[in-house]
Amino acid sequence: MAELIRSIDEMHRIAADLRQAGRRIGVVPTMGFLHDGHLALIREAGRRSDVVITTVFVNPTQFGRGEDFERYPRDLQRDTTLAESAGTTFVFAPGHRAVYPEGYATFVEVTGLDRVLEGKSRPGHFRGVATIVLKLFNITVPHCALFGQKDAQQVAVIRRMVQDLNMDVELIIVPTVRERDGLAMSSRNAYLKERERQEARVLHRSLQLAATRIREGVRSCPAIIGDMTALITAESSGQIDYVSIADAGTLGELSEIRAGGEVLVSLAVRFGTTRLIDNVVVEVVG
Ligand code: PAJ
Repeated sequence: MAELIRSIDEMHRIAADLRQAGRRIGVVPTMGFLHDGHLALIREAGRRSDVVITTVFVNPTQFGRGEDFERYPRDLQRDTTLAESAGTTFVFAPGHRAVYPEGYATFVEVTGLDRVLEGKSRPGHFRGVATIVLKLFNITVPHCALFGQKDAQQVAVIRRMVQDLNMDVELIIVPTVRERDGLAMSSRNAYLKERERQEARVLHRSLQLAATRIREGVRSCPAIIGDMTALITAESSGQIDYVSIADAGTLGELSEIRAGGEVLVSLAVRFGTTRLIDNVVVEVVG
């Protein structure tokens, strides 16, 4: 059985001992309610390190007011079993009071990148993400950390933080794991009603449509976004928060697709009370 660690001090001690013993530590930060996307990260961590620490912590500072912090699905026993089956040695699940004790005052801001796309709709979100990820890195002192491409902007923010703060952690990014019908796996899919779940298939199809248009040579971003919006609106009751085409490196939104490099096509759409995000990266040739 994977060992469940609740205490920050104990986790810190174990990680320090592992380092001392020359073991390579891989950490997989999660908010739990694990699915095959998380498990792909854990398996990859097993291939890239000697000891895998999976963290499970529903981080309050990355949820805005009116977001789903309270109702976010939680099942630590199930998570521990699943994490173990994918190769986790330690599940680290600290309590909220221990992570953010009375008087807690320190936050990390990755400026600029936190103001676009998800950041525009969820002010303060990436401040919470960067802060908890830095704290988890300090506690687990990993050699490498694994994140999913599903949260492309989160990857960009963490990459920037690691670079800017001279952190000695290798970031490994794992491709998005999807359901058979293309829907990106997410803990939040559990909220979807049956009809919403069916309709949500249109998200991946709209991203594929964008990739096809780009490969066909369409260069106008408003035209591509228009096609995606039309498809989503025609085939679902989803409320579009944003559909965006941006430079995959800077996340700056584009009006024209330029040859060479990669673009990030991303979207956020609400189905009832459930907000889903997804993206694809398209390489632009010619
Ligand atoms: P969470 O949403 O639980 O996701 C944990 C990790 O799993 C993230 O790196 C995310 O990108 C990855 N992931 C989620 N769905 C995936 C999928 N379908 N395919 C591949 N990877 C997937 O992201 C967070 O938690 C939090 O913001 C966290 C980084 C833990 C900080 O609190």
